[in-house]
Parts: sequence; C-alpha cells; structure tokens
Amino acid sequence: MKVLICGGAETAAGRAADLVAARLRRAPATTLGLATGGTMEAVYAALIARHRAGDCGFAAARSFNLDEYVGLAPDHPCSYWRYMREHLFGHVDFAPDRTHLPQGDAPDPQAEADRYEAAIRAAGDIGLQLLGIGANGHIGFNEPTSSLASLTRVKTLARATRAANARFFSGSEDVPRLAITMGIATILRAEEVVLLAVGEAKAEAVARMIEGPVSAFCPASALQTHRRVTVILDDAAAGQLALRDYYEDIHPGGM
Ligand code: F6R
Repeated sequence: MKVLICGGAETAAGRAADLVAARLRRAPATTLGLATGGTMEAVYAALIARHRAGDCGFAAARSFNLDEYVGLAPDHPCSYWRYMREHLFGHVDFAPDRTHLPQGDAPDPQAEADRYEAAIRAAGDIGLQLLGIGANGHIGFNEPTSSLASLTRVKTLARATRAANARFFSGSEDVPRLAITMGIATILRAEEVVLLAVGEAKAEAVARMIEGPVSAFCPASALQTHRRVTVILDDAAAGQLALRDYYEDIHPGGM
C-alpha cells in the first residue's frame, strides 16, 4: 500500500482528483469505479475544476458506482443516482449511457445485483476504483464480517452506517435498511484502487485497514492483498498510524 499523508482535507481530496485526472489523460477510455458520501464531494469538485481547466475529459470513459440504496428510484432526492448527477455527471462530459449505478428500485434486488456484477465483468472490470471508508471499516457497503470473497449483492446496513448517513435523509429511520453493493472481491479485481479518508472519525478504521490483520471484521483491510492501492489521508485520519514516520519518510508531504 502506498500511504500519502497530505496535511489538510482539501489537499488530500485534490491529490485524489489528481490521480483520477492523470489516469484519464493516460487512458481516456478507463472504466472508473466511483463512490459517494461526504468525502467524495471535494474530490468531485476538484475533478470538475480540472475538467473545466482542460486537464481531463470523461467522454471516452465509463463508470460504475459502488452502491445504491434498495428501494430508491434514480430520481429520489437521496438516491446515489441523484448524488452523482449533482456532484459530477451534470458538470462533466460523461456520456449518460456510459455511467452505471445499481437500480435501487428494481423489483428483484438480488437479480439486479447479479446483473450489475455481470455488467462490470463484461466491461473488463474496473480500471481505477475510488473508495471512501466507513468509521467501522466498510468499503462500499461491505459491512464488518462481509465475506472477503463477496460479489455484488444485497447487504443489510449496520446501524452505525445508517446513523452516519442520516444527515443525507430527514433522519436515521428514513435511511433504507438494505443496499446493493459491489462485493469485496469485485473491488479487488480493479486494476488500481485510490482510497481517500479525512477527519479524526476515520483514524481508527484507517489504522486497522493499513496496519491491522486482514480480517472480515475490517473489510477495508482486504486491500492489503491488492497490488496497487494508494491511500490518501489528511493529518487527522492518519492520527492513529503506528508507522506514520515511515510513510512520511517515503512520501514527504504526500507526494
Ligand atoms: C459510498 C460508499 C461508502 C462511503 C463511506 C464513507 O458510495 O460506498 O463506503 O465511502 O461510507 O462515507 P463518507 O465519505 O460520507 O464518510
């Protein structure tokens, strides 16, 4: 794992956007794996700025998002479809038929999950996968004890995840109990992974992901088995790393 500690949260988000933009310049037809959530908002804002400056384009790319809530139609105000339109798709030159999310309101959610997994495989799997991390160590909506061999499927959200995401709804009770999420094995098939974590609330999960044992109890720790992972952190999220000096020695200032 390459661990880049970047100082402030904005610098860290900019660094993640730089890696995505560089990949798009090198390989414009890349398949991007995309995440949602608070952490990604700054990454997408930085990517939109780079796109407007002519630094990167999305016209030849395609994308698959990690997850979607079961029961939410694409036009639901709290759906991840809506989030992606607001924070990225509506501002860059992605062709609409090249962006993909699971259909949250599909009549048979597991059949939809199977279809989505097959579509990712048919696209040749993800080129660059962007990830956030939950305070409980989840990636996508792979909650603790998710099988490290899991594929796209329906998962029950942890109470802590529903509480953390209540800020996007009118309250915790409105957050759906189920989501369709790429599995851990789906994510591990990506050619490269860029994970961004900011803030003290993520520090413990970050330390378990990088320095703890590989365990389904911390799903993000499965990334230790991947050959090309870059973890980008701000100072606060790096706060519990035992080998912080070492990472800073190798990549001063997160460069
Ligand atoms: C979102 C996702 C989640 C988030 C994680 C962190 O598509 O899959 O794993 O990345 O819950 O969310 P924030 O950034 O809101 O703390």
